[in-house]
Amino acid sequence: MSKYLVTGGAGFIGSNLVERLVEDGNDVVIVDDLSMGKIENLDCIPKEHVTFYKRSITDFGFMSRLLITEKFDYIVLLGAVASVADSVDRPAETHSINQEANINVYETIRKHALRVKKVLFASSAAVYGDDPVLPKKETSNIVPLTPYAIDKFSSERYAIVYGKLYDIPTVCTRFFNVYGPRQNPESPYSGVLSIVQSCLKTGKTFKLFGDGEQTRDFTYIDDVIDALLLLLSTPEAKWDVYNVATGKQTSLNDVIKSFEEATDKKLDVVHAETRKGDIKDSFADVTKLRSLGYVAKYDVKHGLNKYVKYNRKLKND
Ligand code: NAD
Ligand code: UD1
Repeated sequence: MSKYLVTGGAGFIGSNLVERLVEDGNDVVIVDDLSMGKIENLDCIPKEHVTFYKRSITDFGFMSRLLITEKFDYIVLLGAVASVADSVDRPAETHSINQEANINVYETIRKHALRVKKVLFASSAAVYGDDPVLPKKETSNIVPLTPYAIDKFSSERYAIVYGKLYDIPTVCTRFFNVYGPRQNPESPYSGVLSIVQSCLKTGKTFKLFGDGEQTRDFTYIDDVIDALLLLLSTPEAKWDVYNVATGKQTSLNDVIKSFEEATDKKLDVVHAETRKGDIKDSFADVTKLRSLGYVAKYDVKHGLNKYVKYNRKLKND
């Protein structure tokens, strides 16, 4: 049994990770301010193995005290304003959450010589921006187009440099577009597939920014959790960054079509102008993660079918 800290643990990726960690017999402490996450996301997880703090990761004093007193084996930094568009609207506020709060964690570990088995920081494919070379390799050009992407790149570099300078086992992931159960659709800034799923369910009109020909590497949540567990448990995976994705490129129009087929419903679509800072094309080269034995199990069709099944089961419960 190990002790984990998961920031953002009441969110989409976080709650799915916490569920798996607890199933595997670990104890987890969560810090989440519930700005996007929900306490109900943790309902299915046995309470005796989870401690939840409704706090902001920008409360540096609280975070430092927590790290010093709890002496975590593993730290997973998922807490962030995950929306690219939100960072365009609130650059300074999101900077303190998406960058400064992470540095406070690295700095506390350094200053107090805390011994951790692994610190994992969740970065993003957004760091590659609009560089036309595809697929995106970890060595591809970095062209951040938004405050979100700058903060992700900066936090990942700090993780690696702190790791090497002060011998802290750090590792970073660049997630591509993750989707699946518990992704919150309620904000205009939410992940696109959670919004599509909500519109299909309620019959509300979906606002499509641009012509729908923008492409993404849509990655099912279960594949992301497998990648996180692999990187946390592989000691050689340190001071480095790994793309986490399927390696497949799908347009927004095509993924919507697949979602309509999976639900047997038609999406009502209205078009709007492309969002500021939006990336046109993105998909990953996942050779590096594969070299550790990783295999993505879900293509878009299978991932969407599992997502739809999960939602149907929820409705019947
Ligand atoms: P999410 O919004 O569901 O999760 C983020 C969590 O962080 C939420 O629960 C939110 O309430 C919490 N949070 C936000 N500000 C906070 C603060 N000041 N203090 C404490 N908690 C705070 O998003 P997600 O999709 O689960 O993303 C998890 C991580 O993965 C984020 O760092 C995100 O940037 C990164 N990421 C996500 C994707 C994706 O496609 N979902 C892709 C690349 C990277
Ligand atoms: C997403 C993630 C971001 C991550 C990045 C990695 C979220 C909220 N964003 O950003 O954390 O770092 O992937 O690749 O999880 N769109 C619409 N209508 C909508 C919403 C979105 O047309 O209502 C379009 C967007 O303009 C964009 C595409 O769908 O072209 C995907 O948008 P979004 O889900 O917000 O993802 P990214 O911006 O790629």
